[in-house]
Amino acid sequence: MFRAALWLLLVCFGACSLSAQAIRYLPEKRLWVITTSQNSYVMGLGPQGQLEHIYWDAPLWRTEDLQAVTAKRDISSFDPHQMLENEEFPGWGGPLYDEPALKITRSNGDRDLVLRYVSHHIDGDQLDIQLKDIHDAVNVTLHYRVYPTMGILSRWATIANGTKQDFTIVSAQSAAWYMPPGTGYRLSYLSGRWAAETQLNREPIHEGIKVLESREGHTSHNFNPWFAIDDGSATEQNGRVWFGALAWSGNWRISVEQTPYRQVRVTGGLNPFDFSYHLKPGESLTTPQFYGGVAQHGFGEASRLLHDLERADIEPHGLKARVRPVLYNSWEATTFHVNEEGQKALADKAAKLGVELFVMDDGWFGARNDDHAGLGDWTVNRQKFPNGLAPLIAYVNHLGMDFGLWVEPEMVNPNSDLYRAHPDWVMNFPGRPRSELRNQLVLNLARDDVKEYIYGALDKLATEYNIRYFKWDMNRTFSEPGWPEVAPEDQQKLWVKYVDNLYDIIDRLRAKHPNLEIESCSGGGGRVDLGILRRVEEFWTSDNTEAFDRLRIQEGFSQAYSAKFMSAWVTDVPNMNHRSTPLQYRFLVAMQGALGIGANLNKWTEEDTQLATKMVAIDKRIRNTVQLGDLYRILSPRTNDTTANEYVARNGDQAVLFAFRHSQQYNTPPPTIYLRGLDEHAVYHVESIDGKLVEKSEALSGAYLMHHGLDFKLTDDFDSTLVILKKQ
Ligand code: DGJ
Repeated sequence: MFRAALWLLLVCFGACSLSAQAIRYLPEKRLWVITTSQNSYVMGLGPQGQLEHIYWDAPLWRTEDLQAVTAKRDISSFDPHQMLENEEFPGWGGPLYDEPALKITRSNGDRDLVLRYVSHHIDGDQLDIQLKDIHDAVNVTLHYRVYPTMGILSRWATIANGTKQDFTIVSAQSAAWYMPPGTGYRLSYLSGRWAAETQLNREPIHEGIKVLESREGHTSHNFNPWFAIDDGSATEQNGRVWFGALAWSGNWRISVEQTPYRQVRVTGGLNPFDFSYHLKPGESLTTPQFYGGVAQHGFGEASRLLHDLERADIEPHGLKARVRPVLYNSWEATTFHVNEEGQKALADKAAKLGVELFVMDDGWFGARNDDHAGLGDWTVNRQKFPNGLAPLIAYVNHLGMDFGLWVEPEMVNPNSDLYRAHPDWVMNFPGRPRSELRNQLVLNLARDDVKEYIYGALDKLATEYNIRYFKWDMNRTFSEPGWPEVAPEDQQKLWVKYVDNLYDIIDRLRAKHPNLEIESCSGGGGRVDLGILRRVEEFWTSDNTEAFDRLRIQEGFSQAYSAKFMSAWVTDVPNMNHRSTPLQYRFLVAMQGALGIGANLNKWTEEDTQLATKMVAIDKRIRNTVQLGDLYRILSPRTNDTTANEYVARNGDQAVLFAFRHSQQYNTPPPTIYLRGLDEHAVYHVESIDGKLVEKSEALSGAYLMHHGLDFKLTDDFDSTLVILKKQ
């Protein structure tokens, strides 16, 4: 509400009129001004018709202040003026040595590309700017969609062949973003590996290029397509932070470059590595959306803006989507050894805990008894389920839970009926080895016959059974990405066409089965990005469910993605890193996302069951706040012996504070925790779930909670607590 009012004030001042337009063109200065509640974005036309970036920072309200673009001079024969021009979407042509946004090779071998302004069109919150090469009809449309109250701009481009000859695109980026000129910037990014995803890094930006990317075909565990840049001094609460996230689930790249001219720029889009996209006359390629914004109040606000955008505009049902239900998943309890009786026994126990969505994981189909066979054969294994899945699903539904099913549609085991029938369906270079990982090969989803097979198999399952939820897994990286059935010049389109077809399958499935929900899993967090989020309700964050490790994985995840999409399970101990933590600790870690339980409930004691039932009930009281509220990261697990995260409901009525003590030495008390985002003048009812709060008063003011802070008795290793605040 406040953000919307602020934005209205800004645009009304700026336009000197009452029409609240986020995008304006100033013809006398040949400038475009895009205004949001958090920032302004300005572009202008140079004397030669080049589109230059001018400004991306705090909101500007007075258009009279803005100058038209003037001509720049060469500094030397080694430093041409083009290097100073900050072209909004630089084509590789003329004397340009920075990272291009577009590079092509024409059929006659010419590669020079100099893009100039042709026209533009403003339609509400979207601006399209048409550019064209100086000589031929290599047409580029730059798309800008603004989210005025969220401070975010989405950028992407369409490259169309309007010439009479073929040409090949060798680099197609979505956008180049420019920081205000200067040095001393710092880059934040997420890196990791399987079972250790989304680790937050912060490092200074120096001259040269830092590349974040995936070459693996999927989004990747190694880097996530998100960045944040600050001047080196921002904190969670203070300082300007430029940030962006790319919506693409295939090979992507974000390069962060500091030029010798004190200019930091971030270029991102389709990874040019092994990339080639051939366009015949009349054909086009559209790049993924690259969302970007500037927050004025630190890394915390940058995350909250992205979270808002995801919930309002990106996830499939937007603000109408339900909060994520409490889930049970059988994987860690049973691995491949699923059968009707065993799943029913787990379902009984899960229902008693208050679980709402019961998901059967791997092992239910084909000859799937371990990871050597069965992938590709999406028919029910009749030894394990003699009467199909219907009796189990009816049982689960009768217990009051929805039913979900694990699938891994993009893969095939060589030991499967599908592979025996269609060995040509996997990506391969003829006559060369086909590398197996986890004993499986990747189907070439770029092929339309493969796409139809996968769609058909999933549609059949969703039609035949009352399946509310697919856990869509993808358990290996690409190798030998050959597509021998198409002309050599089209074979590298596989990288893009694969993802287009993946999206198309999910879009069609969802259209036909409107209640179907999907979890994006790729051996944990290998496919977490805003492109797939348009089509799924949850991400499987990591195969590492060990609660202490999770704190850092979740901290990194939360930089870019809302808690609502962060599937988080409570599992048994000792877990994969041999660590054991108390059950309450495990619950509270998982309750900071979409709560799931992945433990073997058959082995739980009565005491475990009682505690779990209590925690699930608490989760249901606070999940609206956690999943839909504002996140404040108060103490980071990277730098403290205590982690604290607070979530505040959007209407301010409830706030919840999670605190975790990893270990203590010398009997040192844990740090005082200062809450954030509360109403100073309000009084809150204070409920500690376990009596570990030192303050005994049941009512405290927002001012006290934020300025005096709260103290806790967190004395044990892996101690934890939760406080629920209710505005009175
Ligand atoms: C990898 C996933 O990340 C796990 O949760 C589980 O579904 C297995 N695959 C099943 O094979």
